[in-house]
Amino acid sequence: MADPHPIVEVKPEWVIDREDMGTKTKFWYRDPDDDVNWLFKYPRSDTGEHWAEKIAEEVASVLGIRHAKVELAEFEGDRGSATESFARGGRALCHGNELLEWTVGGYDPKKKFHQSEHTLANIFAGMDRVFEKPEAASRAKHTLAEYAVLDALIGNTDRHHENWGLLRQREGNGLRGILFLAPSFDHATSLGRELLDERRNRFLKENRVGGYVEKGRGAIYWSEDERRGPSPLELVRRAVRTYPDLFRPVVLKLAEINESVFSEIVERIPPDWMTFLAREFAVKLLYYNYGQLKEMV
Ligand SMILES: Nc1ncnc2c1ncn2[C@@H]1O[C@H](COP(=O)(O)OP(=O)(O)O)[C@@H](O)[C@H]1O
Ligand SMILES: [Mg+2]
Repeated sequence: MADPHPIVEVKPEWVIDREDMGTKTKFWYRDPDDDVNWLFKYPRSDTGEHWAEKIAEEVASVLGIRHAKVELAEFEGDRGSATESFARGGRALCHGNELLEWTVGGYDPKKKFHQSEHTLANIFAGMDRVFEKPEAASRAKHTLAEYAVLDALIGNTDRHHENWGLLRQREGNGLRGILFLAPSFDHATSLGRELLDERRNRFLKENRVGGYVEKGRGAIYWSEDERRGPSPLELVRRAVRTYPDLFRPVVLKLAEINESVFSEIVERIPPDWMTFLAREFAVKLLYYNYGQLKEMV
């Protein structure tokens, strides 16, 4: 068995700043021996949001999908995850809601729930407008399709309009200075991380992990008149048919991977960070989604 993932010990004197975006407690820090800021995120109580972040990151690596680097971390005896900032070297993050506000008439960037205008079609149209060069727009759309497939694989239901974005030059303004799609980040809401072991046990015993996944509601909508978003898996089912050029390449790439790699990734979470049932459930979820995605191409 491969070694467990290392755990970063964050020192109190490294703390820089609290991060107010998003919904959970977190702060930015910098290790003086490192020239990059990291975001320490506490998991909500009784959830596995920290291990979900790390497993998701490893899965993205295996698929070659651009993502923020993540480590398991501890701060003052509390466990969490740490995400490396990609907003550096004169670059800043511009969130999806800003892009859609500029490009989709009437888009409400502040709407937190049921934002049914946050559709793939609107996101892709926004990218066509925001990039001057068609090749840059095409690259961003392909990369976003990769993020949607990653979400389907890990069951990430939280890809709302502040959980993806574009990198821009820090001094840019409005649509000016936009560079490319930012690496994928915030995968905390995945892999059944909110379930308690008793429920996991029931899903596993009754062979209903697939049912759990299919009932999940994603934050990217298919059409504006839907009341609720489809599951991340269902979103890709539809997208593979409607946008085959964008979605088939990454699903084909996934299909070439041996699924045993997913259980190896889960095994590398240190023993007392994740229960046996949480591991079993996460692996079953990955296998189910992998099987479903493979059938789409
Ligand atoms: N790797 C990163 N680089 C730069 N900014 C980031 C990065 N990860 C997160 N952020 C910023 O911090 C915010 C909160 O982080 P996120 O991981 O989304 O936390 P939460 O789970 O609370 O939503 C994001 O909306 C984004 O603005
Ligand atoms: Mg977030």
